[in-house]
Amino acid sequence: MNVLGIETSCDETGLALYETGSGGLRQRLYSQIERHREYGGVVPELASRDHVAKAAPMLRELLEEAGGSAAIDGIVYTRGPGLMGALMVGASLARGLAWALDKPLLGVHHMEGHLLAPMLSQDAPEFPFVALLVSGGHTMLVDVEAVGRYRILGESLDDAVGEAFDKTAKLLGLPYPGGPELAALAATVEDSPLRFPRPMVDRPGLAFSFSGLKTFALNTMQKLAPLDQRKRAEIAHAFERAVVDTLRIKCERALQQTGRQRLVVAGGVGANRRLRQTLGEMASARGWKLHFPPLEYCTDNGAMIAYAGSQRLLAGQRDDGVYDVRPRWSLEELPPLPA
Ligand code: KG4
Ligand code: ZN
Repeated sequence: MNVLGIETSCDETGLALYETGSGGLRQRLYSQIERHREYGGVVPELASRDHVAKAAPMLRELLEEAGGSAAIDGIVYTRGPGLMGALMVGASLARGLAWALDKPLLGVHHMEGHLLAPMLSQDAPEFPFVALLVSGGHTMLVDVEAVGRYRILGESLDDAVGEAFDKTAKLLGLPYPGGPELAALAATVEDSPLRFPRPMVDRPGLAFSFSGLKTFALNTMQKLAPLDQRKRAEIAHAFERAVVDTLRIKCERALQQTGRQRLVVAGGVGANRRLRQTLGEMASARGWKLHFPPLEYCTDNGAMIAYAGSQRLLAGQRDDGVYDVRPRWSLEELPPLPA
């Protein structure tokens, strides 16, 4: 079955055709980052307009490569969570296409896409596993028993990890999105004499809170002003260390608590080198398996939506009559696949 996946929940227009039998994948990805950079963050109205401009021509290109619309057996799109207007663009395109081609249609949960993205890698993880989802909009630990069987173990009470990276980077004068920029600045020093707090690790449970770290960074910057390049790098280093350590402690706790042996990391912050290294060391010390999706599937893309949707279409799920988006939508509301 050839499934077309459409992702427009935030600032990436992602399209992919996924063939469920062979695992064959064709995709197109367009990032709007340049457009939002001058505003220091994603401007929802601009995001929607850019999806409108890009999605249809990208689809035409993808279909030309695949031999036309006859190649499509089903259509899935990101129904939520995300920006309302941006989601509407993908949903409208998907709905129109499904209607014109008379093919099944299904709305996909964006975070389920991230959760299942590691399945697209060469050594796909086996179920069950614990997933750490770390993106610009979400931070959560999820117990994944099978496709559609998700239990949220803990999530952020305030800023998402990516958001904390981006806001702290902005304070340091780095361009948006600041996560990779801050990581690069942090890597220019071996160590830092500064120590940032590890929020909420002294309390039991798996909830996160990252907004205090940004304030701590701001106070530190004011105390150390004027800042030369070395001091800025030391702040970035100490901040990154604190975030990664906090994530490591909570992941360790989540695996111990659930008894799972496998940890899967997904979402944009999964691209962070220090996080990869630190979790790698933890996993080998504990004898756990650790999976990171390939970098291209860590950030938003159409392939992960096509994959997640295809698993549900194969199980006979479809929602042709429904045409809506869910800007807010919990993973736990998703129906499991029939056994
Ligand atoms: O998953 P994603 O592409 O988009 C969302 O759905 O949010 O994640 C983007 C986030 C941004 O906050 C970005 O700064 C962060 O991931 N990010 C990083 C790194 N690469 C991307 N954060 C820290 N270190 C990185 N290397
Ligand atoms: Zn995402």
